[in-house]
Amino acid sequence: MKYPVKIQLINQSRREGLDFDSLPFGKTFSDHMFVADYIDGEWKNCQIMPYGDLSFAPSLMALHYGQSVFEGMKANISSKTNEPVLFRADKHANRFRISSERLGMPEVPEELFMEAINSLVSLDKNWIPKSEGSALYIRPFIFATDESLGVRASSSYKFIVFTGPVGAYYPKPVRILVAQKYVRAFPGGVGSAKAAGNYAATLKPAEIAKKSGFDQILWLDGMEFKYIQECGTMNIFAVIGDTVITPPTTDTILDGVTRDSIIHLLTKKGVKVEIRPLGIDEIINAHKNGELMEMFGSGTAAVVSHVADLCYQDIVYNLPSIEERKIGPMIKKTLTDIKENKTEDHFGWITPATSTILQVAK
Ligand code: COI
Repeated sequence: MKYPVKIQLINQSRREGLDFDSLPFGKTFSDHMFVADYIDGEWKNCQIMPYGDLSFAPSLMALHYGQSVFEGMKANISSKTNEPVLFRADKHANRFRISSERLGMPEVPEELFMEAINSLVSLDKNWIPKSEGSALYIRPFIFATDESLGVRASSSYKFIVFTGPVGAYYPKPVRILVAQKYVRAFPGGVGSAKAAGNYAATLKPAEIAKKSGFDQILWLDGMEFKYIQECGTMNIFAVIGDTVITPPTTDTILDGVTRDSIIHLLTKKGVKVEIRPLGIDEIINAHKNGELMEMFGSGTAAVVSHVADLCYQDIVYNLPSIEERKIGPMIKKTLTDIKENKTEDHFGWITPATSTILQVAK
């Protein structure tokens, strides 16, 4: 690899004694992390080191002006080889590049991004949970590190990757509240980037929804409050009659890797898929006509999360029980089987996690 990496391994793993059968999402972190600095136009100081605290100046630009983007990816143990495999790592690398570019940040070269992911996953492979539906979640992120209060793009950045074993993000079907006041993203904004600030903007509305008993918000477009966009941290699908409909990814909707995978898999299975603007009125009318068969959200963390009911203009619309649904449960199982390498990977989405630097270091 073009980038030299200093490797400092842990003395004692924190893995022993952890209960991998009850894993809340995002609370347990594996032994190592990867850290690199962007200084004077170059990526340098690449290191693998024990996961732990870093110290920063209070004037760190990311903390003030939000120049920070992240990715969420997953690795599993292949049921065929018993070795770690990554799901669509190239697509995540590309989205990370696009998000960084939108926020005025430098590109993490694909070689560096992939080596960081591959070496961390192979190094901490004993942190990958094996129970069905669980995985090693991988969190790459980049943030501005200039110590300055001038409002401009930073000239220095840190790229960090850490990982952690996770179970389901939503352990049960979600209750969703359709947004009526707040907006997640506007045309021309950063809604399609995986920018930290996009998530910050949703936190207060999500808290309000929680107080009324809902798990997530179904966002509508900010111009007319008419078309569905995303749901919580997920892309959204509705099954009306025998057709699966999801909105197109514009500059207000994240180009979800799971969303894209679902579209490919359903199309291959001969299911009718429409990618088009979907109005909330069409959803409510379909419910009234008995044609709203299912709704589900998709995301790396959530995989496929069934919608139990949705509340629009103070009326709650119950959806059919999960047992009655055909598409959501089937596509969730297909995706999980591909990730765990239990079924044919027709699209070549699975790659073994292999590190060149760790081999050299041995
Ligand atoms: C993911 O699905 O990886 C996400 O981005 C969700 C995360 C914010 C928990």
